[in-house]
Amino acid sequence: MLHGKHLSRVLIAASLLFPSVSLLAQTAPPAAPPSEAHHEMPKPTNLKVLPKNISSKDLMATMHQFTGSLGVHCNFCHVEDKTTHHLIFASDAKPEKKSARVMMRMTQTINGKYLAQLPDHGSMQKVGCGTCHRGKSTPTEFVPPPEQHGPPPAPAK
Ligand code: HEC
Ligand code: HEC
Repeated sequence: MLHGKHLSRVLIAASLLFPSVSLLAQTAPPAAPPSEAHHEMPKPTNLKVLPKNISSKDLMATMHQFTGSLGVHCNFCHVEDKTTHHLIFASDAKPEKKSARVMMRMTQTINGKYLAQLPDHGSMQKVGCGTCHRGKSTPTEFVPPPEQHGPPPAPAK
């Protein structure tokens, strides 16, 4: 269910997290029509990793990328106000939010510092939250299949 608009938002989010992805920025769609104004959020007050002047549209695209990649809801990282039951997005009360910031910086470094060193680095070969998390809040361990004994496999073409 990754239709065009959603995908391009994910790509915007990716290019924000990973500024070296200039190719993605060129595919950004025109600004959202006024009909989407109800997505407007109060101006963020506690951004430490994302650009402080990020548009609310790009911020939300990034947040939806997090929920989708980790298979969680917003309240996984954002604490709830016990009386109003609204989420207090600017609060850093939940350890998961702090972990997410570490993860954002880690992901930026993997892409900007390490993957970028590969001689055959492809423009779409970026690590994102989903690369490791695959829809789980804690990545599941990968157990390699048992080694096959017998003739060696044919060389890859
Ligand atoms: C995996 C953790 C995680 C999830 C899930 C998540 N967020 Fe966030 N959110 C963060 C982090 C981390 C920041 C701060 C980013 C920074 O410091 O640059 C943030 C910041 C925000 C802010 C800005 C708050 C401010 O005033 O500074 C808003 C608004 C927000 N998130 C909304 C949402 C919404 C809506 C959802 C669900 C669709 C959501 N978030 C899901 C981690 C998460
Ligand atoms: C290179 C692999 C990798 C990438 C990329 C990655 N993570 Fe993680 N993440 C992990 C691992 C492994 C753990 C568990 C670490 C531990 O148990 O100490 C984890 C743990 C977390 C946790 C803590 C979960 C909990 O239950 O407290 C959060 C939140 C999180 N990641 C968010 C993110 C977000 C958001 C992104 C993208 C910006 C991201 N991760 C990218 C590997 C990754």
